Amino acid sequence: MKTDFHRSVDIQLGLLDSRRNEGTVYSPPAMIQHNVSLRQFNTFGLDVTAKALARVNSQDSLSEILENARKNRSELLVLGGGSNILFTKDVSALVVLIDMEGIVVVAENEQDVFVRASAGVPWHELVMHCVSRGWGGIENLSLIPGKVGAAPMQNIGAYGVELKDVFLELEAQHIHTGESRIFSNADCQFDYRESIFKTSLRGQYIIKDITLRLAKNPMVNTSYGAIAQELDKLGVQAPSVADVSRAVINIRRSKLPDPAQLGNAGSFFKNPVVSEALAQELRIRYPELPSYSAPKGIKLAAGWLIEQCGWKGKIVGHTGSHRDQALVLVNYGGATGQEVLQLSESIMTSVRERFGVELEREVNVY
Ligand code: EPU
Repeated sequence: MKTDFHRSVDIQLGLLDSRRNEGTVYSPPAMIQHNVSLRQFNTFGLDVTAKALARVNSQDSLSEILENARKNRSELLVLGGGSNILFTKDVSALVVLIDMEGIVVVAENEQDVFVRASAGVPWHELVMHCVSRGWGGIENLSLIPGKVGAAPMQNIGAYGVELKDVFLELEAQHIHTGESRIFSNADCQFDYRESIFKTSLRGQYIIKDITLRLAKNPMVNTSYGAIAQELDKLGVQAPSVADVSRAVINIRRSKLPDPAQLGNAGSFFKNPVVSEALAQELRIRYPELPSYSAPKGIKLAAGWLIEQCGWKGKIVGHTGSHRDQALVLVNYGGATGQEVLQLSESIMTSVRERFGVELEREVNVY
């Protein structure tokens, strides 16, 4: 539900119903294609076939698709940028591609600007839009693949910042009832790579837009060691949001493979959070183990654990663990989702046997 504050922000600008008015504008009916390869719609580049695929670029076409799906009792699979999914089989559900675009400022005051972005906007485009205007808060999240609508799903995070730090609210539509609902930051129950949309409300809502609160006079966050080093390299002493964004882009380009060139879905596993007792025991055996305190225990670097087990840079069939970042599994061309899944199982077994630590996948397996 909207808080009074959010409502007053909207009313100030007369924008309270701006998104709902979309329904009065004519938009062509959603087009459904049949037997479509999903290769270009998932960053792993896996060649599975969808029985049916609908591209949705307006509120009207979304409502129409949902209504038809309800009538026909069809199962839906909602895809944003396809940057966090591993397809292991052809898809019999109706694939809904969210293409709604648009970025608007819904309110501002002396300190903050409230930016609303539609779910189909590529995440990095939103970052660049804000960085180029000097608005601070998401520069550390530069170059993350995927679309805006997927960002809250797993509370995207990188280089010391998580989406939840700047997130105000989102609007989502219930797949079965068709009702729209506003979720506040607290409603989303954000946690490390988690939200309510991955837990109790999994598969129930389609996110339509998100609103962020960004700073007009930002304090940049350079607490993550690699950023400070990169800024040093760039000769920057008093970094602007654009400098931090540049540093993050350089770091990501140096370690993470570009999905356009080498299929991957970023970190394949989450960094595991273990008990203080287990972390202590492991630190004694492995003094160089990277570990960080986290709200629910001690977070270990999954990349380090995987590398120690000898997987880094190893090629298995058409897949493997990347040579510069062991946490990233890649498709060297022609891999199947089953092959990648199998590799992930083998890695999980090695890490369990060697360290007694259970890795959890970050990507969704279909
Ligand atoms: N490490 C290794 N070997 C490796 C990879 C990492 O020893 O092959 C060690 C590093 O030396 C470092 C530690 O592990 O001491 C952490 O490495 P890094 O800074 O590369 O970050 P990460 O923990 O591996 C996480 C996120 C990334 C995010 C970076 C930067 C997760 C699962 N991954 O990776 O997010 O970009 O931090 O903040 O939390 C993603 O989610 O897809 C993603 C790329």
